[in-house]
Amino acid sequence: MQNKNILLLFLLFKLLITTTSKSTIEPCTTSDTCNSLLGYTLYTDLKVSELSSLFQIDPISLLTANSIDISYPDVEHHILPSKLYLKIPIQCSCIDGIRKSVSTNYKIRPSDTLSSIADSIYGGLVSSDQLREANSVTDPNVLDVGQNLVVPLPCTCFNGSDNGLPAIYMSYVVQPLDSLNNIAARYFTTLTDLMNVNAMGTTGISAGDILAIPIPACASKFPKDSADFGLLVPNGSYAITAGHCVQCSRGPRNLNLYCMPASLAVSCSSMQCKSSNLMLGNVTVQQTSGGCNVTSCTYDGIVNGTIATTLTPSLQPRCPGSQEFPPLIAPPTVVPRESLFAPAPSPSSLFDGTDGRSPKSSVVPSTGFTPALGPSGISSGASAACSLVKPLPTLTLTLVLLFVKLMIPVAL
Ligand SMILES: *[C@@H]1O[C@H](CO)[C@@H](O)[C@H](O)[C@H]1NC(C)=O
Ligand SMILES: *[C@@H]1O[C@H](CO)[C@@H](O)[C@H](O)[C@H]1NC(C)=O
Ligand SMILES: *[C@@H]1O[C@H](CO)[C@@H](O)[C@H](O)[C@H]1NC(C)=O
Ligand SMILES: *[C@@H]1O[C@H](CO)[C@@H](O)[C@H](O)[C@H]1NC(C)=O
Ligand SMILES: *[C@@H]1O[C@H](CO)[C@@H](O)[C@H](O)[C@H]1NC(C)=O
Repeated sequence: MQNKNILLLFLLFKLLITTTSKSTIEPCTTSDTCNSLLGYTLYTDLKVSELSSLFQIDPISLLTANSIDISYPDVEHHILPSKLYLKIPIQCSCIDGIRKSVSTNYKIRPSDTLSSIADSIYGGLVSSDQLREANSVTDPNVLDVGQNLVVPLPCTCFNGSDNGLPAIYMSYVVQPLDSLNNIAARYFTTLTDLMNVNAMGTTGISAGDILAIPIPACASKFPKDSADFGLLVPNGSYAITAGHCVQCSRGPRNLNLYCMPASLAVSCSSMQCKSSNLMLGNVTVQQTSGGCNVTSCTYDGIVNGTIATTLTPSLQPRCPGSQEFPPLIAPPTVVPRESLFAPAPSPSSLFDGTDGRSPKSSVVPSTGFTPALGPSGISSGASAACSLVKPLPTLTLTLVLLFVKLMIPVAL
């Protein structure tokens, strides 16, 4: 029976090894959803329409999430190059007590394996164990060609805010050359913030870990009864709303939402502000003796099927520069050079370890998406966002890690 025991230990060891890549999960209780992003690297050349069907999302939302001009000719058939890194917008739900997205299905093709689907096609955003579990696959070596697999994808909402400012969260798969420093620099955030969001005790990360990265967003102030109430536009993206009639982005000079008629606007209700000749997005400035007389015609949501606009006069000390929509890019045909290599510069921010803010989330082995059981009393309960969260009992993690270490000599 000695052999049997060793086999058992070996299997246990394998199980533990496969659970060592970590993923940040957010426990949840409400049924609300939020918009979130996935950081994804194309495994092969894909048309815009193919990439959007891989994640079952609207091609327009894929393009706008990446600041790509949707009025570019024949943009849906444009071929995006292999290795291109893009943000994929997905809806984040609350399922079995944790945040995740389960609206993506994948149709099995010949020569697919669970690990090729997980690691290559979905770029490590899902693991083969998660695929197996989510689809009750009994024998991973026998996949039915044509069968649809649910692809559970990681996401977090954290109440749409980070340190009290509007934010959207992106799930990011750590790459071999990454350090937490260069990830923070790349996404214009601090090491402290990343560590808090991901409930990390140290800056150590490994390839394959999945981090939640806060992307600052600009928030709309549309009235509650507008169809697009609560619209949040993350930095580096724009949004198309009001039945494809209006596009909104952050103003280039500030973090306020700036909306104007969309480039593809066809049959839209009037976008002119009442009792003025200003169109949505127009701003007039007039220098007067008392300051600068600024009048803007702003978008106020879609209410009862019509585009609501507000004419806002204001007197400002100085005349602002002309308001314009941030530049949109043509769909990429080559992979930008800098994204092939991890950027070298480290951010100016230093982690001092004395911040004292509570971590928002649990970091757990990514296999199985199991939420951490039991609170460990870390949460100081300062913000409501923190109270949604149950940090992983540190002791358990330590024991598991210790266990892996002890097992290695046995298994070898
Ligand atoms: C938004 O992104 C731009 C680059 O696309 C960057 O220069 C800027 O610092 C970012 N702003 C914030 C608040 O992250
Ligand atoms: C008003 O906005 C429309 C649509 O964006 C634009 O075509 C027009 O040039 C703007 N007019 C002024 C005076 O800014
Ligand atoms: C500011 O400009 C608007 C329109 O251009 C005008 O109706 C209003 O009288 C002006 N207000 C002042 C204080 O000049
Ligand atoms: C929208 O329609 C509802 C009834 O359908 C009405 O009560 C409400 O006043 C309308 N709102 C606006 C802004 O027209
Ligand atoms: C979520 O954030 C909003 C402000 O953005 C705040 O008013 C609300 O209390 C927060 N809710 C939770 C549960 O954190």
